[in-house]
Amino acid sequence: MLEDHAENYVSGQMISETLNVSRTAIWKHVSELRKNGYEVEAVQKKGYRIVSRPDMLSKEEIGLKLTTEFLGRKIFTYPSVESTQFIAHDLAHRGAVDGTIVVADEQTAGKGRLGRSWHSPSGSGIWTSLILRPKLPPQRAPQFTLIAAVSVVHAIRKQTGVEAEIKWPNDILVNGKKVVGILTELQAEADQIKSIIIGMGINVNAGTEDFPEELHTATSLKIESGRDVNRSALLAAILNELETLYEEYLTNGFRMIKLLWESYAVSLGRRIKARTLNGVIEGLAKGITEEGVLLLEDESGKLHHIYSADIEI
Ligand code: BTN
Repeated sequence: MLEDHAENYVSGQMISETLNVSRTAIWKHVSELRKNGYEVEAVQKKGYRIVSRPDMLSKEEIGLKLTTEFLGRKIFTYPSVESTQFIAHDLAHRGAVDGTIVVADEQTAGKGRLGRSWHSPSGSGIWTSLILRPKLPPQRAPQFTLIAAVSVVHAIRKQTGVEAEIKWPNDILVNGKKVVGILTELQAEADQIKSIIIGMGINVNAGTEDFPEELHTATSLKIESGRDVNRSALLAAILNELETLYEEYLTNGFRMIKLLWESYAVSLGRRIKARTLNGVIEGLAKGITEEGVLLLEDESGKLHHIYSADIEI
């Protein structure tokens, strides 16, 4: 109720009548909110008002802005974990429902792509892993990285006004620097996906001094927008976007997602270097296939299908 009337005071009487609780019970709940970092003003004859809220990734804060049917309806939050991916894999094995998400304030062994580590300090980012259970063959899994990337771009643009772009396959850049990394992992049988674990690492409120020296190509939404960004609201916005695009994908296929993805891609139509496991290929990035594979045309006009690589623009 306090959230719904953010600009005004809500009288104790109104809360008491609406929720059928005593004035003492309200006072206890307000004390609890204060203990959790909310600044709640209580003024005689006027009532209660939230003055400021903590930047906390809690189920309650995320839930306030969530409009989804299933995505993020089951949330596991942790102050500190090794990696949310490990926890999500374990939950998926034990039968976690479609749309379950794991969120941590800090990761001590965050995982990046290609065996790299992911810097995940406490309090400044969103470190989350989402469990999806589409009834699809495993070959379709790479498309989910692209669906996730488009959702993150939409949510960032709406929440912060920052013009985020995509670098194939899964980096989100702002002004050429990385703000988000996405790691998609799979539990599958030969012909059917059991679960897709989409790990997202989002640098939200880190300052320039918070990035280690070697991460000079990284940035945060705060650095780029000049403002603090509410992590729970951003995560809820990502989940809302992702569920909408996921439904679109299941109903109408990959076409629309592909078009959106291509419209945000920084590398398309440019000469790039792809460092693959089998060597470096240089060429013109022509587009992506229906499966989300990058098409690169080399000097001789030969078209290469790039499934996994690091891209230099
Ligand atoms: C990349 O290398 O760009 C992908 C980084 C993915 C990081 C996220 S943070 C949440 C989830 N848990 C992890 O350990 N990794 C992913």
